[in-house]
Amino acid sequence: MSTFQAPKGTYDLLPPDSATYLAVREAIAAPLRNSGYGYVETPGFENVELFARGVGESTDIVTKEMYAFETKGGDKLALRPEGTASVLRAALEGNLHKAGNLPVKLWYSGSYYRYERPQKGRYRHFSQVGAEAIGAEDPALDAELIILADQAYRSLGLKEFRILLNSLGDKECRPVYRAALQEFLRGLDLDEETRRRIDINPLRVLDDKRADVQKQLVGAPMLADYLCDACKAYHEQVRELLTAAGVGYEDDPKLVRGLDYYTRTTFEFVHDGLGSQSAVGGGGRYDGLSEMIGGPALPSVGWALGVDRTVLALEAEGITLDLPAATTVFAVPLGEEARRVLFAKVTELRRAGVAADFSYGGKGLKGAMKNANRSGARFTVVAGERDLAEGVVQLKDMESGEQEAVAVDEVVAVVKSKLV
Ligand code: HAM
Repeated sequence: MSTFQAPKGTYDLLPPDSATYLAVREAIAAPLRNSGYGYVETPGFENVELFARGVGESTDIVTKEMYAFETKGGDKLALRPEGTASVLRAALEGNLHKAGNLPVKLWYSGSYYRYERPQKGRYRHFSQVGAEAIGAEDPALDAELIILADQAYRSLGLKEFRILLNSLGDKECRPVYRAALQEFLRGLDLDEETRRRIDINPLRVLDDKRADVQKQLVGAPMLADYLCDACKAYHEQVRELLTAAGVGYEDDPKLVRGLDYYTRTTFEFVHDGLGSQSAVGGGGRYDGLSEMIGGPALPSVGWALGVDRTVLALEAEGITLDLPAATTVFAVPLGEEARRVLFAKVTELRRAGVAADFSYGGKGLKGAMKNANRSGARFTVVAGERDLAEGVVQLKDMESGEQEAVAVDEVVAVVKSKLV
């Protein structure tokens, strides 16, 4: 161990577990790649104002959790706490919305940073794969994204997740509801901080987890009763499309997300095996965000799935992904001449597209075979002086235990023929 440790709330991804993380990222990305989403990558930090305006001045993310700092040059930046504001900023800056092909469909994968109180499933550095469909108001787009996330989770073998669905209304009906909710909340017995929240973000009060608050919330006006006809019709179409696709969901009229930009469709994927940090992913429509950050009207929808929590969900369901071994052939040389010959063979195998590794450090046969076993390789190639004198190496199938002498010149061809 060194003098240093990973900072609080962070952890390292190390082999062999790191392979599962890569596979999860890939599994989430695969349905997106297959559905017209192009890859986007944005910087790990942005102007702090982008998040303050985009995510919302009153959200926990902006007020408590952002890693904000001033550079030596005086720029006020923040490590990105989420991806949506950055991706929209990038799309606008790159004029993707002007290319005449709306919606602009983008996917991304990366690290995000929130100064949260660390616990299982809640980290200060975490990983998301996300998707944003920018510039179209179409319930089929909302449905598409939910269906693709469902497909991604199912492709990993996950079963114990649920989709919670709600509509947060639009700029017509939400203000009316907000006023009604504020009036109701002001009549309750709440602490100072919660009272302040009534003024800034009353919907968040509904999300309060404390039992004494929840008790008082019985009978609070519900947004569903205030939705305008356009929002109701839109939401109904999203629901119908999901049902037609065979994607089950639960209406959750109390679902309020922790980011302020949402309008209409909002959803969360929760996993029942994860305890308090049960949201494995979430998203929704954000029709006003582009204007909030200085762009034109671009109604949009998206989601982000948490890679860390998805891995925990796999563990909770006892799922081990069937990952191919990193190494197919492991070469074990016995003696100097064999080192030269087998090192050349390993290079040749790799160039031919076969994953191969070599016993480094001049180990004896026993130590080298231990490494070969640990590598999970399907074949080992062992050669000593006597083999080389006969122009052969010993090719051993680690699954069947069968061993055969193969001419040095034919090793690559023989291995390849056994792999098909
Ligand atoms: P979010 O709900 O804040 O949404 O984050 C999405 C997912 O990221 C969560 O469901 C969770 O799995 C994971 N996550 C969030 N915070 C942490 C943490 N501290 N530790 C581990 N995992 C975490 C967004 O970020 C929105 N940008 C989603 C979106 C995209 N909406 C529209 N487009």
